[in-house]
Amino acid sequence: MCGIVGYVGEEDAARVLVDGLRRLEYRGYDSAGVAVHAPSGRVEVRRAVGKLRELERALEAAPVHGKVGIGHTRWATHGRPSEVNAHPHVAGHIAVVHNGIIENHLALKQALISRGATIASDTDTELVAHMIAEEGAEDADLETCVRRALNKLEGAYAIAVLSDREPGKVVVAKSSSPLVLGLGEGEMFCASDIPALLPYTRRMIFLEDGEMAVLTAQSVEITTLAGEPVERDPVTIDWSPVMAEKAGYKHFMLKEIFEQPRALEDTLRGRLDREAGDIHSSEIGLSEEDARSIQRVVLLACGTSHHAALAGRYYIESLARVPTVVELASEFRGRGAVIGEGDLVVAVSQSGETLDTLMAAREAKQAGAKLLAIANVIGSAIPRLADATFYTHAGPEIGVASTKCFTTQLANVLMLGLWLGRRRNTLPEERAAELVEALAHLPQQMEQVLVGTRQLVANIARHHVEARDALFLGRGLNFPIALEGALKLKEISYVHAEGYAAGEMKHGPIALIDGHMPVFVLAPRDSSFERSIGNLEEARAREAQVVAVATEGDEAVRAVADDLIEVPAVLEPLYPLLTVLPLQLYAYYVADFKGTDVDQPRNLAKTVTVE
Ligand code: F6R
Repeated sequence: MCGIVGYVGEEDAARVLVDGLRRLEYRGYDSAGVAVHAPSGRVEVRRAVGKLRELERALEAAPVHGKVGIGHTRWATHGRPSEVNAHPHVAGHIAVVHNGIIENHLALKQALISRGATIASDTDTELVAHMIAEEGAEDADLETCVRRALNKLEGAYAIAVLSDREPGKVVVAKSSSPLVLGLGEGEMFCASDIPALLPYTRRMIFLEDGEMAVLTAQSVEITTLAGEPVERDPVTIDWSPVMAEKAGYKHFMLKEIFEQPRALEDTLRGRLDREAGDIHSSEIGLSEEDARSIQRVVLLACGTSHHAALAGRYYIESLARVPTVVELASEFRGRGAVIGEGDLVVAVSQSGETLDTLMAAREAKQAGAKLLAIANVIGSAIPRLADATFYTHAGPEIGVASTKCFTTQLANVLMLGLWLGRRRNTLPEERAAELVEALAHLPQQMEQVLVGTRQLVANIARHHVEARDALFLGRGLNFPIALEGALKLKEISYVHAEGYAAGEMKHGPIALIDGHMPVFVLAPRDSSFERSIGNLEEARAREAQVVAVATEGDEAVRAVADDLIEVPAVLEPLYPLLTVLPLQLYAYYVADFKGTDVDQPRNLAKTVTVE
C-alpha cells in the first residue's frame, strides 16, 4: 500500500518523483522521501514525516538535482511513522524503496547485526538495503547484487534500488506487490500504480512476480530473478490523466460518487446483448461448459467488495439456482476450507491486489477450483492469477472509500448471475431480456437519484452531523447495502454505525435505539417491503429519527418516516444500485461537515497489501 515512483531520464528527477507520488496519495501514507543521484556522484536522500508538502519543504531547504531517482510514500507496517523509518533506506552505496512485508525480517536482522551491520530504523526495508549492499563486491553490478539479495528474502515486495556506483540506472523487482514500468522517449519510469505515470507515458509493462528489470534512460531489460531474459510487449493504458483529477469537485470521493452513471455505462458497454436478452460470453471469459458444470459458487472478497459479493449471492442463487456462499477472504485463508473441482471461485477486488483476497484465491485455485476475478485494475495480481477476469470498467478510484467500484461490482455480479442463469436454463429468456433492458437504463436513473437527492441528503446529514451512532437496516438485496452504508459512514466520518439485516433488529440492536439515533431503513417496493415497513415502525416507536430510502411517490412511507429519500421504481434486482447512492452521499456530507480528511481517512489505505 506504499507508493513507489522511479525515474531515469533528462528531467529534474526530484520534481518528477514528487509529482508521481502526489498522484499516488490516494493510497494513504504517513511519510515520504526521495533518493536522487546527485552530480557529486553520491545518492542523496530527503525524507519527511507527514504530507508531501513536508517533503517539498525539505527539498526547498536542501535541494538535490539529478536525473535519476526513486521516491516513496510510506504507510507504516514495521515501525511507527517517523523520518528515520521513512523510505528511501540507505546502506553503504545502496538506496532502496519498498512496498510490502519481508516475512523473514527477524532472522535477517540478527544475521546482519552479527556480521557487524548497524541498523538505524525499525523497518524491514532497511534490511533489504543492507542485504543488497553486502552483495556489492567490486565485480558485481547492481542487478546481480539485487538478484542475490532477493533470493534470500521471503515475503512480499516491490522494490526500486539505486547505487552510488551506477549513476544511470534504477533496478526494480517484484514479488506479490504491484509494480508497473513506464516507457518514455529517452526516459523510463516505474511506479506501484498507473496514475503516477499517466502524465508521462501510456506505454506500460506490468512486472510479474519473480521478475526484475534494469531501467536506463534508453532501455528496459526484464529478467527473472534467476537471470532468464523476459520478452514482454508494452500495453497502452487509455486512462487520461484528467480522469485521475478532481474535475472541479471538492473531493475525489464526491467526484467518484457522481461518476457512477458514467462508470456503470462503461462497465455495461459491449456486454449486454439486448437482442438476445443475454450477456456476451466473450466478456465473462468462462466457457459455456463451465457455466453448466459448476456445482457451487464461492465469492471471496474484503470490505466493500465483500458487500458486493453478498449481493452476488442473491443474484446467482435467484437467477442461476447455483448454491452460492460468500467468504471474507481473510477468514477463508488457511482454514482448510472445503473447496475444489466443481467450484467456481469469484474473487471480487477493486484493486486486484488485496493480499487476503489474492492469497485466498490462490489457495482455492491450487485446490482445483476454477477462478474468476472481478477486478477494476487491469493486469493486477488477482486477474493475473485467475482463469478469467470480468473487469469492472470504473476507471481509477482515488478516494480511499470505494463508491463507483462498488456499484460497478454490483453490476458485474448481476451480469454473472444472468449469464449463468441463461446457460443453466434457470432464467427464462423474457425475464433475462427484461433485466438486460432495465440495466441499460440504469445509468440514467442513477444520475436522476444523484442529482435529485443531493441537496436533501446534504440537509439530512447537516441535521445528524452530531449523532454519535447510526443504524442502517435492509432486507434481501438491501441488506448488503445497509452494511455498505454503515461502512462508508464509519470510514470517512468516524461515526459509529451498524448495518443490520432488518429482520435481526429485534434480536439485539433495537436496544440501541433512542431519540438521538438516526435509523436508515431501506424500503423500496420490493418483495420485502411490508416487513421493512414493520421494522421502520418499530424504530419509530422507540423515537428513532427515521430516514427511509423508498420508491418514488410512496406516500405510505412518507407518512411514517421523518425523512424520505426517493429512488425511481426499478426491477427488484436493480434497487441496490440506486439505494446505495444516497447512503454514499450521506457519509460524504457528514464527513465533509465534520471536516475529516474525506479522501484519505485516518488509518486507512486504498489497497491493503498486508495481512
Ligand atoms: C471501503 C473500501 C475497502 C475495500 C477493501 C477491499 O470503502 O474501499 O473496504 O473494499 O479494502 O479492497 P479491494 O476491493 O481492492 O480488494
